[in-house]
Amino acid sequence: MAYSHVGRNKVLLGVSGSIAAYKALELVRLLVKRGLEVKVIMTQSAEEFIRPLSFETLTKNPVVTSLWDPLASDSINHVELGSWADVFAIVPATAETISGLAYGQANNEILATALITRVPMMIAPAMNTNMYTHPATQANLQILKSRGVEVIEPIEGDLACGWNGTGCLADVYEIQYRILRALTVHDYADKKIVITAGPTREMIDPVRFMTNRSSGKMGIALAKEAYLRGADVELIHGPIHVRVPAGIKLTPVLSADDMKEAVLNSFTPEVDIVVMAAAVADYKPKHAEDSKIKKTGDWKSLELVPNDDILQVLGEKRGKDGSPKLVGFAVETCDEEQLIEFVHQKIARKKVDLIVGNLAHESLDRETNHVWIVDKIGRSEEVSTTYKSRIARKILDFVHKL
Ligand code: CTP
Repeated sequence: MAYSHVGRNKVLLGVSGSIAAYKALELVRLLVKRGLEVKVIMTQSAEEFIRPLSFETLTKNPVVTSLWDPLASDSINHVELGSWADVFAIVPATAETISGLAYGQANNEILATALITRVPMMIAPAMNTNMYTHPATQANLQILKSRGVEVIEPIEGDLACGWNGTGCLADVYEIQYRILRALTVHDYADKKIVITAGPTREMIDPVRFMTNRSSGKMGIALAKEAYLRGADVELIHGPIHVRVPAGIKLTPVLSADDMKEAVLNSFTPEVDIVVMAAAVADYKPKHAEDSKIKKTGDWKSLELVPNDDILQVLGEKRGKDGSPKLVGFAVETCDEEQLIEFVHQKIARKKVDLIVGNLAHESLDRETNHVWIVDKIGRSEEVSTTYKSRIARKILDFVHKL
């Protein structure tokens, strides 16, 4: 499955000589799995830590290891690779590589390529804490940042040298997303999006609650897609497992009331789009008991009261200029014809711009979905069953046209 819908999928990876070089293998595996084409350049000191064959096996491409590589006999590799790539990432970047980049040196293949290429560059430093925090390294990083090089900051942890501190290579999951973001067209740059995801939990007593089958995967997919497309994203989520890039702000909540409060807190004039993908509970127990309800009692029924409809509150609250854009979901258990009817009813009732209709058996707790995207002026698009990441892409394409 190819990653990019705009044809940008070529990653040139420079690996310099740090013990963290082995983590670049996992990064390559993740990128290749997404359908990206990866070519690797290694410095000779990187070869002391890891063999080129490992990268060759994963990328199915030859690895360039020296300016005088025999593979380069019929072409000048750094010239060719520099123009082949869509993005150039150096992972890990040692203090020496960072210094070489800052001062425009060209004495190895990575540095020479960095001078040749004009594609976006990013570096993920990894080194001993004192080397990283040394004013010389920090000054070099400043020089690179001022030239537009993206620095994926190292994290704190146990370093191979036995020290503990900042200098560990950033998490490869994080680096992966930074590379994907650099490859993606930022049609949502300068847009602030609030997205909700997952179920809510309505407490009955301290050990029991009412909830639903939502996994939150659709909302999470939307948040990641919006992040990759350059948006400033906040994900307000119910109790679900969430792993998203660090650039996405996470606001965890439990109940529908908590979610309403969090959404209203974030409902500021700066917000451009709100997407309610959460399966908000329609009802909650009238009273949540303070202590566990015992089975010796005569508990026979539970009195419920309705929760506020968050989307409807937003529809009534937003400005006359129609800002922010409001997007909702409709999950139903009916046939397609009735689903579309419910979708139109919800657009009108909640005063929103767009509703994504889907069927419970095709969407809840699944990796895939099948949706009907309908806007308030009647434009619509059916997206047949595919991964939620692709559905998210289609939804945001549609929202962009609103
Ligand atoms: N929604 C909300 N607040 C609620 C209930 C729903 O904001 N208390 C939002 C959902 O996040 C979704 C949309 O409203 O975007 C439609 O939710 P859905 O459960 O399909 O429909 P309901 O409005 O709950 O109506 P019904 O249960 O009658 O289908």
